[in-house]
Amino acid sequence: MFATAPSRKHGSKAELYNELVAQANALFEGEHDFVANAANLSALLFHSLEYLNWAGFYFLKDEGLVLGPFQGKPACVRIAMGKGVCGTAARDRKTLIVPDVNEFPGHIACDSASKSEIVVPLLRFGKVIGVLDLDSPNLGRFDADDARGLETLADVFLNAADIGD
Ligand code: SME
Repeated sequence: MFATAPSRKHGSKAELYNELVAQANALFEGEHDFVANAANLSALLFHSLEYLNWAGFYFLKDEGLVLGPFQGKPACVRIAMGKGVCGTAARDRKTLIVPDVNEFPGHIACDSASKSEIVVPLLRFGKVIGVLDLDSPNLGRFDADDARGLETLADVFLNAADIGD
């Protein structure tokens, strides 16, 4: 097991995610363009959560995942369904926490600095339309509180977005 790094210096993770939900709601108010909202959510997460080296989206296109708005270094553009952490989370429609990416068979290394990862599938009317992906340079960075918080943020994004209607 890996010790989970604290996500911030003060307050609980749940409080931090509550603040992020409020900020995301404010950013999305009156705006339904999913690319714009995905870009802003990536920036919000990247600059608010500690120990991240990548935060962004992949969207389903032509049966596979294609890179969307993100913050961090340039990343792999296409990921097949069922491949890597992103494709596995999308196929299984379940949030996937990977404490050590080197222990995940088939992990796709876009940046060798990434040590742990969390992927939240984006579900619209029961169908996967993409994933939200966060990478960390620390082992064991993500836990169940991150999963809950990011799933809530994914819902906020999906409720605002003009996608899959
Ligand atoms: N590591 C991911 C690929 C995407 S990057 O982390 C941005 C994967 O295994 O699916």
